[in-house]
Amino acid sequence: MRIDARTRVYAIIGSPVEHSLSPAMHNAGFEACGINAVYVAFKVDDVAAALAGVRALGVAGLSVTVPHKVSVMAHLDRIEEAARQVGAVNTVVREQGKLVGYNTDVAGAMAALAPHTAFRAQRFLIIGAGGAARAIGFGLWQRGAEITIANRSEERGRELASDLACRFVPLSETQAVSADCIIQATSVGMAPGPERSPVPAQILRPGMVAMDIVYKPLQTRFLRDAAERGCTCIGGLTMLLEQAVEQFRLWTGHSPRQAMAAALSEAMNEGMSEDS
Ligand code: ATR
Repeated sequence: MRIDARTRVYAIIGSPVEHSLSPAMHNAGFEACGINAVYVAFKVDDVAAALAGVRALGVAGLSVTVPHKVSVMAHLDRIEEAARQVGAVNTVVREQGKLVGYNTDVAGAMAALAPHTAFRAQRFLIIGAGGAARAIGFGLWQRGAEITIANRSEERGRELASDLACRFVPLSETQAVSADCIIQATSVGMAPGPERSPVPAQILRPGMVAMDIVYKPLQTRFLRDAAERGCTCIGGLTMLLEQAVEQFRLWTGHSPRQAMAAALSEAMNEGMSEDS
């Protein structure tokens, strides 16, 4: 597509961003929909200055990633209710000149889980209490699921459990929890770290749903344990794709999922050959 004087600019801000898969997905989406827009990655350390730049230059929308999902909130004109409740923004939309914050991690995680669970009255064990666990927990809470939080740091785990009015167990006691679905929402198992799972394989049982937020490697130790033990597995790439599709929909009203999925798997394959 030709870049001209009317081309709208979208961007991801974060640090680091050079390995982000979002440019591949969103640019494929713009192309598939015939939208004159481009999506670039900005490595940002000073979020206040970056948001002033976004306003001054008329940047049309942002993805926000680590470490700015919380700090960006102070620089927006409005924050949508779900993002406010989660306490983090991963998407900025320019609406009539105002910058509005959303959180599509919630919708992304729920879209990834939806084909495999009814949510209501289903028992979910969430491993982790960071930003991702918080977004997933909030989405599950909204849908009437029964939630248990397990986390390494007890203080952080109890805080999330209290916000969701649910049970907390220490990471060492997950074997005592009965669950229909286990969600691995920590950074454990992420490359280039060691290949390991935060929970013992024995807690994974046939018929359970197991989801991992980590997508590098695609097959984490947690998911391999889950597959070996007869669980239905959902990899981290599904949530990554779905949160991006929801961002794209907020920006443009379109949901070119297929084009974005194809671009994502192509970018993953290229990334793997780069690393090897
Ligand atoms: P994110 O926003 O991506 O979720 P985060 O806020 O840094 O990232 O949260 C990371 C999660 O991974 C936390 O639940 C963290 O546990 P603590 O609250 O105890 O820090 C968890 N985590 C990270 N490394 C871990 C490890 N080696 N073992 C167990 N849990 C770990």
